Amino acid sequence: MFGSNQVTTLGKLPMPYKVLFTGFLLVIGLGLMMAGAQIMLTHGMADGKPGLSKEDIVYSYYGNRSGSKLESAMTGKMKSKAPDADRFLLIQWARDGAPINQWDKVGPILEKNCSKCHDEESGFDMVAKQEVAVKLAEVDHGASISSLTRVSHIHLFGIGFIFLFVGWIFAMAEFNYNWKLILIATPFIFLIADIVSWWLTKFWPSFAWLTMIGGFGYSLASTVMVVTCLAQMWLPRWTDKP
Ligand code: HEC
Repeated sequence: MFGSNQVTTLGKLPMPYKVLFTGFLLVIGLGLMMAGAQIMLTHGMADGKPGLSKEDIVYSYYGNRSGSKLESAMTGKMKSKAPDADRFLLIQWARDGAPINQWDKVGPILEKNCSKCHDEESGFDMVAKQEVAVKLAEVDHGASISSLTRVSHIHLFGIGFIFLFVGWIFAMAEFNYNWKLILIATPFIFLIADIVSWWLTKFWPSFAWLTMIGGFGYSLASTVMVVTCLAQMWLPRWTDKP
């Protein structure tokens, strides 16, 4: 049932290995929970609402290309803060790509309408400062290629090693043979799907669902493996077997 060539089972391991593997699995379990929390706090808030949604993933990787922050402020929350003529000029400036040679026109408008709130004390963006205004006028293109390459390779190397060791330990568990093979393979497959989905979402926002499935898939598979391993190393049902 467990495969004819299984070397040993977790319940029968010498104590030093049990302690070593338990320490590792507990740290990994905690790490997984922290990773989940971090995703909720960073990506989860990308659309301004708590909780991870498809929009969060689209905003993080594809960006919000409907316009710049400056433009959405001038048509939304900050609409009442400047007369129409000034607002249109600011929107036009943002749409033109924030040309610096028009700053002598734009700067004073921001100074006059905005800096009474957006000042040093309030902690809000200092919109009347040139570099801040230029940044707010940029259209958000989401994650850059260079940051995606960086995060992708860190994830593949780092998480690949985690799954190697978790799977290695789990290979010694008492488990239905075919399910064991599936569980060991699952995190690797979902990890690749996850990374590929970031790149696809960067260019085609409709792929965001793949990111959600990918993250969920490998969290689930590794949780099953970690919990099974810990139980079989310490619960009498497995350790007391003749
Ligand atoms: C009466 C005070 C006040 C004035 C005047 C004001 N703002 Fe704001 N602004 C705020 C506050 C408060 C927020 C944060 C609102 C929120 O997040 O709900 C904000 C947020 C913003 C944001 C969003 C920042 C981000 O990172 O998303 C932008 C952009 C902005 N303001 C631009 C402007 C511009 C441009 C003007 C001048 C035309 C202006 N504001 C005038 C109070 C003000």
